[in-house]
Amino acid sequence: MAFWEPCFGKDNECCDCDCSWTKFLIWSAVVLVVGGLVAVLVIAFAVVYPPKATADDAVLQRFALAPGNPAANSTISYNLTATVSLRNPNIYRAIAYGPLAVAFSFNGSRFDDSATVRAFDHKPRKTATVRVTVGGVGKPVKLTAPGVKEFAAENDTGKFAVEVRLDTTLQYKGRSANCPLVVVCPLQLQLVDPDVAATAFQRTKCTILRAKKSGC
Ligand SMILES: *[C@@H]1O[C@H](CO)[C@@H](O)[C@H](O)[C@H]1NC(C)=O
Ligand SMILES: *[C@@H]1O[C@H](CO)[C@@H](O)[C@H](O)[C@H]1NC(C)=O
Ligand SMILES: *[C@@H]1O[C@H](CO)[C@@H](O)[C@H](O)[C@H]1NC(C)=O
Ligand SMILES: *[C@@H]1O[C@H](CO)[C@@H](O)[C@H](O)[C@H]1NC(C)=O
Repeated sequence: MAFWEPCFGKDNECCDCDCSWTKFLIWSAVVLVVGGLVAVLVIAFAVVYPPKATADDAVLQRFALAPGNPAANSTISYNLTATVSLRNPNIYRAIAYGPLAVAFSFNGSRFDDSATVRAFDHKPRKTATVRVTVGGVGKPVKLTAPGVKEFAAENDTGKFAVEVRLDTTLQYKGRSANCPLVVVCPLQLQLVDPDVAATAFQRTKCTILRAKKSGC
């Protein structure tokens, strides 16, 4: 007897109730399993997730400001290396990135945008690492007067708050839209002596900004 057929036992009341409960449970289980399967398929194939990013490492070998008068005429000399890792959280979809433009700023003033990372493909569920080294001597930086003060204060502690920003476009495999993507990572950087062992870097989470565009 299939489970959906009515029950014809002697003790009708009890049997009926038994049967309908069994039916109910079995059908519920079927609905749950099918629903779960559909949800998994939708997540795997129909929904796209943007990458997640963390700043894994950063080293500051030099960070010296020559304050200008006005403050916007200041210049800065620096050597900096930063490592940002991107994770593709999609189960099935690869991501194709366009070239990444990398910019560093201090107190909201950009002091370096010389680095770029070339375009690459990012397999699903994988982590890709982007590593850039930049340096400059006497580069102009348009600081504000509070920015110069902030530099002096951070200079006293040897710890600098620098922000790294990655600008790129990406395309999810199987979709045609080109999606702008911005990754912003705040870095707390300790000035290090290159002859001394590296100081511990606190891994930080980055903010992902993406365009509200269909297919992105
Ligand atoms: C500051 O910058 C302005 C514009 O770039 C320039 O005209 C001026 O001479 C600079 N001042 C100093 C003191 O360098
Ligand atoms: C720059 O530094 C000043 C002084 O500490 C602070 O008030 C301001 O919020 C900072 N601006 C940015 C963009 O970090
Ligand atoms: C720092 O950067 C400057 C300019 O790019 C470069 O000439 C110098 O060799 C760098 N120094 C170190 C220690 O990397
Ligand atoms: C930063 O600190 C160093 C010594 O630690 C000092 O030589 C330099 O003049 C300071 N720079 C500024 C802009 O305060």
